[in-house]
Amino acid sequence: MDKNDAWFNFMEELRSRSDLVSVVSSYVNLDRKGNRFWACCPFHHEKTPSFCVSPEMQRYKCFGCGESGDVIKFIEKYENVDFMSAVELLAKRAGLEMPKLRGDKGLQEKKKRKQAMAEICLFAAKFYRSNLMTKNGAFAVEYLKNRGLDDRTIARFGIGLSPDWDALVTELEQRGMDVGLAYECGVLDKRTSGRYFDAMGERLIIPIINAMGEVIAFGGRSMKKEIDFAKYKNTKQTELFDKSKNLFGINLVSKKKKKSGLDRILVVEGYMDAIALHQAGFDFAVASMGTSLTKEQARLMKRYADRVYICYDGDAAGTKGTLRGLEILKAEGLEVRVMSMPDGIDPDELILKYGREAFGKAMDEALPLTDYKLAVERKKYDFDRGTAADREDAKRKYTMAALDIISSLDNLVEAESYIIKLSKETGFSPDWLKQSLTVREADAVAVTDTARSGEEQMAPLNRYDKALYFILACMLAGEEYAVIDFEPVTNDVFLKESFRYVAECAAQGKKPVPSVLADIFDGQYSKNLDYLADTVFSTTLENKKYFTDCVKLVKKKYIADEINRLSNEYTKEADNGRRSEIAAEIQRLSAETKKL
Ligand code: UTP
Ligand code: MN
Repeated sequence: MDKNDAWFNFMEELRSRSDLVSVVSSYVNLDRKGNRFWACCPFHHEKTPSFCVSPEMQRYKCFGCGESGDVIKFIEKYENVDFMSAVELLAKRAGLEMPKLRGDKGLQEKKKRKQAMAEICLFAAKFYRSNLMTKNGAFAVEYLKNRGLDDRTIARFGIGLSPDWDALVTELEQRGMDVGLAYECGVLDKRTSGRYFDAMGERLIIPIINAMGEVIAFGGRSMKKEIDFAKYKNTKQTELFDKSKNLFGINLVSKKKKKSGLDRILVVEGYMDAIALHQAGFDFAVASMGTSLTKEQARLMKRYADRVYICYDGDAAGTKGTLRGLEILKAEGLEVRVMSMPDGIDPDELILKYGREAFGKAMDEALPLTDYKLAVERKKYDFDRGTAADREDAKRKYTMAALDIISSLDNLVEAESYIIKLSKETGFSPDWLKQSLTVREADAVAVTDTARSGEEQMAPLNRYDKALYFILACMLAGEEYAVIDFEPVTNDVFLKESFRYVAECAAQGKKPVPSVLADIFDGQYSKNLDYLADTVFSTTLENKKYFTDCVKLVKKKYIADEINRLSNEYTKEADNGRRSEIAAEIQRLSAETKKL
């Protein structure tokens, strides 16, 4: 039996037996309204239902937090498991047996090996821990106490101490454990002579534990007065541990979520910061362990919460690396809030010096990502220095940088509110700022269109394209308000063809059938169709208003293009009569955009 066939058949059977409505209703109360089912979203806190399930499309979507997907994704999210485990859970529920696949045997062996490795790590953790508790460890306990940690916290994080370079090796050997494997785990290191030694020798030990509660690595802090080597040493990359895919403290966050729910996660840089925060009651903190944030870490966070507070030391804030990390978080659908610390102070020190209230206050004052990016730009320019011309120049440069940031926003209402803020800050009129924004977007459209092929991958959409997709979706869905009085300008083949189909239907006086698009494109553009399906899904009360906003945006671009074309014509035109006609038309169009 071919593996893929067996798997495909199994999945088909599984999907047909796992109706989304009945799966979801076993977790939350669904309320039927028309052909949709509604509930309060299980993935974020809310009082009025914005979580919607469509039985026809077998997809769910939350209009509050944006979470969406199919039955497997729902289980992944709700149960905090990966794809395979979600499939297993659904199979059990449907009374289906998982197919035995070739290659399983290798997988089993790998699993066993990983288990053995985790056992060694756990063994080492216990060894370090018990050593901290002996007389030899008293100085380290005192060090921890001096840093403000209490017994409970020390125990909670399983902090330990490596006594020397050899004791762990001896202990492992005496217990008949595989020292070679201990080397593979990064627990032991090897001299050129081949002799093993404790990789964390003479360091204070902070175990790194994954979400399943397994010890997978260690952070070791030097206890020497004069640190000759790195202050911290981390376990090397192993089959169990990849620094860029893990977060220190995720085990505690996972536990908390299971016990009492979680609506946010707090990311700091250092081990000691995360530990101090947990002790101070901020028990949703994790540490990124000094590296800049990765996509894998963002996804890991997203499994536990939708909102992330990020708190880096004063000197790391605003750097390119930090900003890139924040964009990564946002790209994974996390709502980002950025905290700021006084210069040269990390969260651990802030709490020690000023108390937990000070940290709470910093959290209250955290900025949404856009505000933070604007603040970073704002700091670069001084509006009060130099001559009048210098000051104007600073304002203009800041305005351009700010418009770049604002133009990347998806939400038109949000963009509008930042425009108003920017206008107050710089004195430029909101109208002028909006006009500049539209011109920028028109330029951006020209760039992305040439890069788009439409087949496999869908290029990221700008605000203008998103608006067109939304308009198209409403028209395809046959919403009565979805009527436009202009031809959308776009180079996107998918959009162009789809709008042509809608127009044809209108000309023939018949209702468009959305699924026909799949036939029109003959199996191509499936990503675009997916995206469109997701958009069709949105049937909130606000849709009509959003449609109007989208039409405005598109129309503005349409008019901007038209003005551009006419201006070109004007400069080339020799005939004076025709010139004044063109000028009048330009004036009329400008007046029209102002009304939008
Ligand atoms: P910090 O130096 O800010 O750590 O580095 P910290 O937790 O505040 O250390 P204390 O308070 O002096 O004990 C932030 C993180 O960067 C990584 C560690 O994960 C550390 O927690 N780091 C730092 C290293 O991996 N190696 C180093 O030499 C230093
Ligand atoms: Mn510190």
